[in-house]
Amino acid sequence: MKIVVGCDHGAVELKAEVLKVLAEFKDIETEDVGTYNAESVDYPEIAEKVCGKVVSGEADRGIVLCGTGIGISMAANKIKGIRAALCGDVFSARMSREHNDANVLALGGRVTGYGPAGEIVRVWVTTEFSHGERHIRRINKMMALENK
Ligand code: RB5
Repeated sequence: MKIVVGCDHGAVELKAEVLKVLAEFKDIETEDVGTYNAESVDYPEIAEKVCGKVVSGEADRGIVLCGTGIGISMAANKIKGIRAALCGDVFSARMSREHNDANVLALGGRVTGYGPAGEIVRVWVTTEFSHGERHIRRINKMMALENK
């Protein structure tokens, strides 16, 4: 599985930690699209870079980070085909995969500590979509909203 990761200046350190956690998994390939330092950048541009690779199929999933995770998750969810889940706990991370088939995880670099974020990432990358009939129905309805 290929995971593309990107952040704004509010989460450069947490992105480095996330990449360390992803390196624990031999079957996960990562791509880091930046940003790489504290110089201010606009999170919608990072969301577009990461999510563009997910919707094109160049990557299987994405992880986006900003200071709170809020702006970058909102921006990610404007992109057709993206289901981004802002997660601050492990239960939400698991449910976002099992029930919502989230293809992008969002984290807040100024909100979530390294320990919890690491666990969130581990659970999110290892949890499969449940393929439950009711979940598929709801996701189809959700995705249809993109065309209304
Ligand atoms: C940048 O200062 C900050 O606004 C951004 O990282 C994020 O928290 C926005 O939602």
